[in-house]
Amino acid sequence: MTEVTDPVDVEDGGRVVALVPAAGQGVRLGEGLPKAFVTVGGRTLLRLSVDGLLASGAVDRVVVIVPEDRIVSVRSELPDGVDVVAGGAERTDSVRAGIAAAADADLLLVHDAARALTPPSLIARVVAELRAGREAVVPALAVADTIKTVDLLGVVTGTPDRSELRAIQTPQGFDASLLRRAYAAADEAATDDAGLVERLGARVRTIAGEPLAFKITTQLDLALARAVVGEQDSIER
Ligand code: C5P
Repeated sequence: MTEVTDPVDVEDGGRVVALVPAAGQGVRLGEGLPKAFVTVGGRTLLRLSVDGLLASGAVDRVVVIVPEDRIVSVRSELPDGVDVVAGGAERTDSVRAGIAAAADADLLLVHDAARALTPPSLIARVVAELRAGREAVVPALAVADTIKTVDLLGVVTGTPDRSELRAIQTPQGFDASLLRRAYAAADEAATDDAGLVERLGARVRTIAGEPLAFKITTQLDLALARAVVGEQDSIER
């Protein structure tokens, strides 16, 4: 049977589906509820992330992955057309559930709900690189701190050359078949999706990241996010 595809998408290089893993417990944040449901400027981190993806104009469909007991409430709070599925114990399990719900994707983005203030322009740049033919694209920032490796006792075992280190953000973008293969081959959890793709030997390309795409993990991050959003509100008034 011939597949029916949107001719505009085909011309552009394919259909883009963004997966938003939001099923973490957010223990490090210590707000007493899953991190994606903490609010900044009156919107949950999940809602801010979804709104940013939609505002990029580069995404055809969004699938959010949430704790099972929140599926119904999230469905009613998000814009029509956003799909909601249940996540798993590890981030890898949650992304896997999202991939299963995105069989229509030619290009896949994976974007942490915790990076709620990511500028839409960064999302559009990741997609533009994929459309230009890159198979895996991640935003990257130079690290400000010296990074050391340590053993189980906390004794330093090495000091990697800082000029070669990058902090990696989301959205991470992939040719969909590559990411599906990476997850099919994954036998253990990874802290990011590009890590699984690297294991297949694929070439992962970095592009310039954005400071505002920082991951909200601690109370300090949350205070920063609220300050940034407050600042934006006062500028808009
Ligand atoms: O824990 P961490 O900050 O690395 O989580 C990154 C993102 O992955 C968050 O948006 C979190 O909600 C999501 N996650 C998930 N399922 C898990 C663990 C984390 O969707 N089991």
